[in-house]
Amino acid sequence: MSKTHHPETTVVHAGREPSKNGGAVNPPVYHASTIIFDTYAEFVQAENGTLDRAAYGRHGTQSNRLLESALAELEGAPKCLLTASGLNAIAITLTALLKPGDHLLMADCVYSPTRFFAEQELKRIGVNVEFYDPRTTKTITDSITDKTKLVYIESPGSLTFEVQDIPAIAKAAHAKGAIVVIDNTWATPLFFKPFENGVDVSIHSATKYIGGHSDLMMGVINTTEKLYPAIKRSYKNFGIACGPDDIYLAQRGLRTLTLRVKAQEKSALEIARWLKKHPAVSRVLHPALPDCPGHEIWQRDYTGSTGLFSFILKKHLSEKQTAAFVEALKLFKMGYSWGGYESLLIPLEAKKIRSAVKWQPEGSGFRIFCGLENIEDLKTDLETALAKI
Ligand SMILES: Cc1ncc(COP(=O)(O)O)c(C=O)c1O
Repeated sequence: MSKTHHPETTVVHAGREPSKNGGAVNPPVYHASTIIFDTYAEFVQAENGTLDRAAYGRHGTQSNRLLESALAELEGAPKCLLTASGLNAIAITLTALLKPGDHLLMADCVYSPTRFFAEQELKRIGVNVEFYDPRTTKTITDSITDKTKLVYIESPGSLTFEVQDIPAIAKAAHAKGAIVVIDNTWATPLFFKPFENGVDVSIHSATKYIGGHSDLMMGVINTTEKLYPAIKRSYKNFGIACGPDDIYLAQRGLRTLTLRVKAQEKSALEIARWLKKHPAVSRVLHPALPDCPGHEIWQRDYTGSTGLFSFILKKHLSEKQTAAFVEALKLFKMGYSWGGYESLLIPLEAKKIRSAVKWQPEGSGFRIFCGLENIEDLKTDLETALAKI
């Protein structure tokens, strides 16, 4: 597609080839394990890795290639790989790029299973894992040493939404020869452009906004040409493939990404501002609000915010009060993940999953995801449940 198109247009047109598929708007689903070689020459190319299509279903079929090309184009990445889940994308990338003795500098506010992967798998094979305080750029850049092989950013942070200065971190990391990887799931490829800001690898849980309907698991690894061979090697060696039906669902989900995310941005902002004024609420952690850590950086580097944020109450709730609050909600359902069409809310507990920064909030916290319901209905739901406490 032409580079002059706006992202909304790319979301609709990239990674589809109607003329090659009998005119069908959406690409067909390729269910395949065995893929036949027409000639011995093709077989030889498959053996030496020069065949320009999949040689075996596990390596990804035409279904993968089309969605990968759409997601690479949308985020401005040279290369893309689809994986079985977001966490799988993270695990493959870190395993591919790190070896025993390397220093991994990781944001303290990463999605907790990312932390567990670093602490329980990477440390075991001799990677030196250090978590950085995501609130101050200088502390982060000062922690990058000659031994640092990789800086892993999640911005805004999971649960607590600290926005980090990615261009500054990338500059400091590259000066020491380190690779920069970001989990860009919150911003989607629409609201933050990692490759224009110095990032080498951008990861998404496509389970969230890209799928958009809470019915698939998938990860995305967007990467530079340089790092692609190493990541592709690990991707192949681990043998974990994503299923063709999930790819089909993600293809469908992608086409409405802009509409969904913009509607959720509007709802989340309105509800965040409303919660901020609520007498029971102490703070709202939303990057687009001026008092959120890193708000100025968000304003400079991001073109939007999405539907996920947190709020902290003025008081700590007992277990019974917490149950009364969450069970009084009728529209905000309790459940992990986010990025679908339905609103969600879960209690926020970060004490046990932070080491560089102590999490000691003044009251109980909750993470909220605004779906596509009517904003007034969502406010009424929250208002009714907050009245119970
Ligand atoms: C920020 C972030 N990254 C990655 C993941 C992992 O994605 P998946 O659930 O697709 O493995 C999640 C899941 O909640 C997440 O919130």
